[in-house]
Amino acid sequence: MTKPDILQIGPYPDWDQHPLDAAFTMHRYFEASEKSDFLAKVGPKIRGVATRGELGANAAIINACPGLEVISVYGVGFDAVDLALCRERGIRVTNTPDVLTGDVADLGVAMMLAQSRGMIGAENWVRDGSWSTKGLYPLQRRVWGRRAGVLGLGRIGFEIAKRLAAFGMEIAYSSTSPKDHARDWAFIADPVELASRSDFLFVSLAASAATRHIVGKEVIEALGPEGMLINISRASNIDEDALLDALEKGRLGAAALDVFEGEPKLNPRFLSLPNVLLQPHHGSGTIETRKAMGQLLRDNLSAHFAGKPLLSQVL
Ligand code: 8YV
Repeated sequence: MTKPDILQIGPYPDWDQHPLDAAFTMHRYFEASEKSDFLAKVGPKIRGVATRGELGANAAIINACPGLEVISVYGVGFDAVDLALCRERGIRVTNTPDVLTGDVADLGVAMMLAQSRGMIGAENWVRDGSWSTKGLYPLQRRVWGRRAGVLGLGRIGFEIAKRLAAFGMEIAYSSTSPKDHARDWAFIADPVELASRSDFLFVSLAASAATRHIVGKEVIEALGPEGMLINISRASNIDEDALLDALEKGRLGAAALDVFEGEPKLNPRFLSLPNVLLQPHHGSGTIETRKAMGQLLRDNLSAHFAGKPLLSQVL
């Protein structure tokens, strides 16, 4: 039997690449120097796309593949996939929810702790000898018992809030509606009000056109000079210029960010800010989770081509 032709948008670890190569004929878009020539050549035989959360599949890719049946995303976020076009063309879309929830929540909480306690600076204090030459490390800010806001109480937001509860934090959240499973936490519909009653504001919303820049100047300034913004979702949820302005002028205390506009390149203004913790979009980046994501990506492709129900269907 001939193996289905799959367009591969980005690289995967060997433990995923080998089984993908065994089951499918993989066409490596990310290695092509002339992307449009490559698409023109392989597009007509492509039946599936294997992509990653942040890479997705845009209209140019989808339009170059007239026989495309399924797009399998290695990631929970599918905001970079042109869903309207997929819907119109009857293309199925899958993602990898659940398997990454705990790791993304862990990283968000770790970022809050690391930034609030100044752990990166403290590490440098030890390594560069400041401890012996200058003495004690400057005092930092407490985390436990303070006020946390969670913007978006989906799977990841809920796991973040559960972890924060263990720190004795006062938790409030904003979501489309109050959640029955969050009765101990205050529901605040308005993100500005949520920010104004938070010391730490977590952004854990699934990104879409509707959530673009939901964290704008008003939310950022409501969080204020003592507040910290933590983003483990998508850069598009935050107005990055407003964030940079506020961090530079001290209208926002600090930020801890795992995602950036135009990543992996980021606005160089971030690099000169002392009050921001920068992470390379690795919320789901553990061996355990990435193996589970790769398995689910493949299982969805295999299920589609075997005519079986998809395991985690978006469309
Ligand atoms: C990436 C993500 O897919 O789950 C998501 O939506 O953005 C991530 O898990 C991951 O970094 C692999 O590229």
